[in-house]
Amino acid sequence: MSFINFASDIPEIMSLELDRESENIEDFCKIGGDILSHPRYIEMKGYNHHGTVSCHYHSVFVAYMTYKACRHSDCNTVEATRAALLHDFYLYDWHIVKHDEYHAFYHPKEAKKNAEKYFGSLTALQSDMILAHMWPMHLMPPKSKEGMILTAADKICASFDFIKLSDKFRPIYDRIDEVIGYAVC
Ligand SMILES: [Fe+2]
Ligand SMILES: [Fe+2]
Repeated sequence: MSFINFASDIPEIMSLELDRESENIEDFCKIGGDILSHPRYIEMKGYNHHGTVSCHYHSVFVAYMTYKACRHSDCNTVEATRAALLHDFYLYDWHIVKHDEYHAFYHPKEAKKNAEKYFGSLTALQSDMILAHMWPMHLMPPKSKEGMILTAADKICASFDFIKLSDKFRPIYDRIDEVIGYAVC
């Protein structure tokens, strides 16, 4: 396997048909189950991220797309999927809580700090993925293919949020909730 072949792999990666995703969903939940079932992670369901899309929904959507893209390449799928789940784990409503630094630059550092607090130490790959995910808004590009995939997935999913296409992920999101075993919100 090599890096993503845009012509042949992108349609498969972007496909969100529930009846074709059972195996991926099971594997995704095995990789990130301890994160997805953690009370502080579930707390993100209560924080608006983009419009009416919660930080939890956005994070799971981005992580799932990162997982699928990594499965189509020679990336470290496990490390990348876990880092993607945690890339926006900043745990506040950025519309209400303000910091000296602009949210776009502040929240990756807060996400990394919370990720280490609740889920133990991150690898160098994961730290860089989380800290660099807002590129190119800042000047520090990701150092890895996994990081480039995360930043691309983040932009695509955020665009889906703003143009009201994120509901395409809803059946998979609800199925992940069922597999993890907490109530669908
Ligand atoms: Fe972010
Ligand atoms: Fe994000």
